[in-house]
Amino acid sequence: MADLDRIETLVRTGPGTIMGNYLRRYWVPALLESELPRARCAPVRVKLMGEELVGFRDENNRIALVQEWCPHRGASLFFGRNEGEGLRCSFHGWMYDVTGQCIDMPSEPEQSRFKERISLTSYPCEIRGGVIWTYMGPKESQPPLPDLEWSLLPESHRFVTKRLQESNYLQALEGGIDSSHVSFLHRYDLEQEPLFMAAKGNQYLRADTHPRFEVVESPGGLLIGARREAEEGKYYWRITQFILPWFTLIPPFGDHAMGGHAWVPVDDENCLVWSINFHPHRALTENEIEGIKSGSGIHAALQAGTFRTVANKRNDYLVDREAQEEKRSYSGIFGVGMQDSALQESIGPIQDRSREHLGTSDVGIVMARRRMVKAALALHEKNIEPPALDSASQKVRAASILLPKGQPFAEGANEVLIAREDVMVATL
Ligand code: FES
Ligand SMILES: [Fe+2]
Repeated sequence: MADLDRIETLVRTGPGTIMGNYLRRYWVPALLESELPRARCAPVRVKLMGEELVGFRDENNRIALVQEWCPHRGASLFFGRNEGEGLRCSFHGWMYDVTGQCIDMPSEPEQSRFKERISLTSYPCEIRGGVIWTYMGPKESQPPLPDLEWSLLPESHRFVTKRLQESNYLQALEGGIDSSHVSFLHRYDLEQEPLFMAAKGNQYLRADTHPRFEVVESPGGLLIGARREAEEGKYYWRITQFILPWFTLIPPFGDHAMGGHAWVPVDDENCLVWSINFHPHRALTENEIEGIKSGSGIHAALQAGTFRTVANKRNDYLVDREAQEEKRSYSGIFGVGMQDSALQESIGPIQDRSREHLGTSDVGIVMARRRMVKAALALHEKNIEPPALDSASQKVRAASILLPKGQPFAEGANEVLIAREDVMVATL
């Protein structure tokens, strides 16, 4: 398969596509728990992998995502009435339960059995880690919910946000595993952002802008090691985790809350960026939560009542040329999360990879593409079960660690790359 054919496979995730079928074998982070906060609350819209859906919670607290369009004459069920037993279309009153079955059709004669033949596509949902997850694949292949460390921590130890990004999910994900941009795009943020500052490792990040990358396959994805010079015969390693199909974990900065993302396709030209801060060993502080809510760190300030960012491509992300010149911001854009969004979106809705020139620092991206295509094609051609559906592949950790020169990083960091309560986070 030629490289550009691979890319075309990777970026298309609609129903029936190779990648779409593959991604639908995983649980998808769909909504924040707070979007459907209680039984019988208002329905919400969500679009995932090209499918327009509505989420609702019935009177028994059962949650589902159903197709947005009413099978009667196509009105949007976003305007439906949540009547407890089900969601009733506001146009002619047809009502559907969480399984998608039409349970009432008041516009038809009472003795009519027409409703028995009408149903919506419906996807099951479960809550874990402050997130409503949905499963959009074949019923018989439904895996257990993912065991990502942040999703299993008590609520006090994590904070999850999401934002809409106007780009294909793949270039967003690639930004998440491209550790070399930290020394540039986020250069002046390391000492300003409350969630990064004063970490010992920052000195190495600033001093050595030529990290060497080594990438190794892990059972559930990739370990992306970025090596920088440190003192006394040691290297400073920042080890990012890529967990198939769309999770990344950022190497920690000191004792700050750790960060992670999920990069989930909305359609081929938009994605949902999930940003998570968490600490395996302690509750987040008030300051940290304040910062997250105001959009600092990997999060972003949102327009009220939406998941659209305040700084966005229509206002050039509020670029501040003075700040750029005065080295208060490398790009002139403020906020690590916003900087990532801006640069990833600036590539265009779907990056034209025929024009790119990948260097040695892009090895993580090359390997990630390969790993993803391999897994998707294995399912498509040979019906091989996708990787990273098991708990051990998901319960992993990123790390920042000093290792003696000459020691392979995956071996040196072996123990600390597993998420275990009794193992401390490796960071400096
Ligand atoms: S369009 Fe929904 S009931 Fe008529
Ligand atoms: Fe970034």
